[in-house]
Amino acid sequence: MPKIVTLPGDGIGPEVTAAAVEVLREVAPDLTFEEHAIGGMAYDAHGDPFPQRTRDALADADAVLLGTVGGPQNSPWNSLPRPMRPESGLLALRKALGCYANLRPVRVQPGLEHLSPLKPELARGVDILIVRELLGGVYFDQDRKIDGDTAYNTMRYTTPEVERVARMAFWAAEQRKGRVTSVDKANVLEVSELWRRDVQALRDRDYRNIHLNHEYVDSVAMLIVSDPSRYDVIVTENLFGDILSDLAAVIPGSLGLMPSASLGDGAGLFEPIHGSAPDIAGKGIANPAAAIMSAAMLLRHGLKRSDAANQIERAVALALREEPTRDLGGKADTRTFTNAVLEAMGTPVG
Ligand code: NAD
Ligand code: IPM
Ligand code: MN
Repeated sequence: MPKIVTLPGDGIGPEVTAAAVEVLREVAPDLTFEEHAIGGMAYDAHGDPFPQRTRDALADADAVLLGTVGGPQNSPWNSLPRPMRPESGLLALRKALGCYANLRPVRVQPGLEHLSPLKPELARGVDILIVRELLGGVYFDQDRKIDGDTAYNTMRYTTPEVERVARMAFWAAEQRKGRVTSVDKANVLEVSELWRRDVQALRDRDYRNIHLNHEYVDSVAMLIVSDPSRYDVIVTENLFGDILSDLAAVIPGSLGLMPSASLGDGAGLFEPIHGSAPDIAGKGIANPAAAIMSAAMLLRHGLKRSDAANQIERAVALALREEPTRDLGGKADTRTFTNAVLEAMGTPVG
């Protein structure tokens, strides 16, 4: 009986996680679920955005399903010392799990081109996998400070950090079209010079079957929306990957269609890429598709159950055709969309 730790978190996190758990229960009745606190709600309840009880629960977890963390701009959480803020809880969780590679697929399913703001001929057939480095760079480097009118952060990478995430990208590309684009800013940054050198050396040493090219991040920001079909796998550092993946959400049509899987040393972490959406939280209208598709990634990557993952993804595509949510210009609320997914899986709707 695989144990799934669920961490619903803040804002729309509980709403979309509940939908994902409902779908998981239908497709994999043997799973057990254990819910724990993370983020701002964990700080309010336990004085810590990543409480010890949550940390302890990870020890024998087979996979972790996360909702979202964080509050609105005026939230008191944003005035806490940085380590106590909701987002720091999430970063500590990623670190505790050793999840250094964050896989963020960007896909336009056949028949869903109309949900994209791009011209149908640009959106059709898009299938990109962004592999974002998740445990390094400016996010984690301890050489950081704000002091009076001066502040700095440090973007630092080591060769082993670059190689392990690049291996993940090459491995993913081997099961796809065999093309990897490494994204950096090597025309300006030393850290990108190292990144580019190490990714190329690894390819030349161990992945001669992969076609690798290097592009600058500013150029990719333009090309990923104007000519998305040029990309298969993209591999990039933490901050660039964060920004490019929200940008790429424009291609399928919404942040609500962007799932992710974070893989590394131990149990995987599965979470939508969107945030807590304070503007719509508590209204029951959030698009749960990204959370449900993250649950599918949990089945595929975390539990090696590809058939069940495919079943969920097919059902989500059908539901998006029948009952699009408001972020996609439709009318469905969270409940209606989730029911449509359950129905599309051949499950009687209660
Ligand atoms: P956001 O992703 O929460 O919202 C951006 C916009 O997209 C909003 O208009 C929101 O309503 C919409 N949106 C997002 N997900 C949606 C969904 N599933 N269905 C329908 N609409 C959706 O980004 P933000 O407003 O910049 O950040 C809000 C908070 O979330 C901040 O505290 C931020 O730090 C946090 N955040 C958390 C995560 C995470 O937990 N992984 C990710 C990003 C941001
Ligand atoms: C994401 C989020 C997080 C990140 C924040 C909330 C720490 O934006 O998962 O994309 O920057 O990694
Ligand atoms: Mn982000």
